[in-house]
Amino acid sequence: MARKKNISVCVIGAGLIGKERLMSLRQLIKKGRKVEIAGIFDPYAPNKDEIAKEFNTKFFDSLDALFAGCPDWIFIATPHDDAVEIAKKALAKGFKVLVEKPLGRSYKEAKSVFDCTTKKNQLWVGFNYRFFDGIAAALKDIRQKKFGDLISLNILMGHGGNPKDKLGWKLDPVKAGGGCLIDPGVHLLDICQLIAKGKLEVMCGMPWKGFWKTGIEEETNLLLRFGKTAINFQVSIVKWASTFRMEINGTKKYGIVTGRNRSYGDQKYIIGEKWGWMKGGSQKDSEKEVLTSANTDSFTKEIEALLFGNQTKNSIKPCSGEEALAVMELLDRCRKILKLPV
Ligand SMILES: NC(=O)c1ccc[n+]([C@@H]2O[C@H](COP(=O)([O-])OP(=O)(O)OC[C@H]3O[C@@H](n4cnc5c(N)ncnc54)[C@H](O)[C@@H]3O)[C@@H](O)[C@H]2O)c1
Repeated sequence: MARKKNISVCVIGAGLIGKERLMSLRQLIKKGRKVEIAGIFDPYAPNKDEIAKEFNTKFFDSLDALFAGCPDWIFIATPHDDAVEIAKKALAKGFKVLVEKPLGRSYKEAKSVFDCTTKKNQLWVGFNYRFFDGIAAALKDIRQKKFGDLISLNILMGHGGNPKDKLGWKLDPVKAGGGCLIDPGVHLLDICQLIAKGKLEVMCGMPWKGFWKTGIEEETNLLLRFGKTAINFQVSIVKWASTFRMEINGTKKYGIVTGRNRSYGDQKYIIGEKWGWMKGGSQKDSEKEVLTSANTDSFTKEIEALLFGNQTKNSIKPCSGEEALAVMELLDRCRKILKLPV
């Protein structure tokens, strides 16, 4: 019987997340998955030899050289403006592409990338928050109606970054395509969209800026709704204590996911019953811890699901191009309500 060929992956951009993807691929190889790192392209990476050695691969001198290697997959982890142009070229050549979130800097740009696809299931977008253990478990519980009817959700994320952030591209309105709403807020919009299934209505909101003074929104508060369920949404890059918190309030139970990883603390997911205190003790005593996780392997889980499709009916799936486009459409509607440039 013929041996199964390795799935070859090239990575474009060897910064923070490019390296996360490379580490995940290496982890999958160690695990015995039939995958290989076919090469990297990043003309600006300062330590190419070191990186190539670390991941037992090579750097390409140009994008065309990478394309000529005909990998099965291309992973793109560059600044948002560069990612748009690279993704379009790779898609037009028929490659399967995973581009880190967001898909473009606006709906219009996302659509222009999507329109370069030449076949179905060709474009995927990196939304690894879906694969954080606490979030994934809570999403499954919502799907299985564990909480009863959803009354409301509070979803909140914030960090304060680093004084050096002003020198990088992430606060640059053109390169990043906006402020905290697109990055990291787009992760939260993706989660909201998964929960709502249908279309979310953007009711009202308020942006704040004035600390970094690069013109982008630095904190955003929004009220969204689907059916009778409200979502209180806050994302901030001027929140000095790293915070992730998702509260799900249903007619039967509630769930709370806190933490994310590293400075946010481990992710913890608890479930509480309506009137749990009636079973004796306090409400807090009646809460059950579902899990606590350091969330170190969300990128690996996302890639494994993408490349090997090892999913059961209920498992969390990677974000398709279509879903990512819908997230960008929602993001544009949030921007309109917030009176931010679209
Ligand atoms: N999912 C997450 O948790 C998460 C976290 C941070 C960033 N991201 C996303 O990952 C992507 C990359 O962010 P990052 O933090 O790794 O940024 P980064 O600045 O650390 O790395 C970007 C890399 O891209 C390279 N690069 C720039 N232009 C290029 C080009 N034209 N061709 C090839 N390489 C080029 C740079 O040299 C750099 O090494 C962004 O889309 C960002 O939103 C996701």
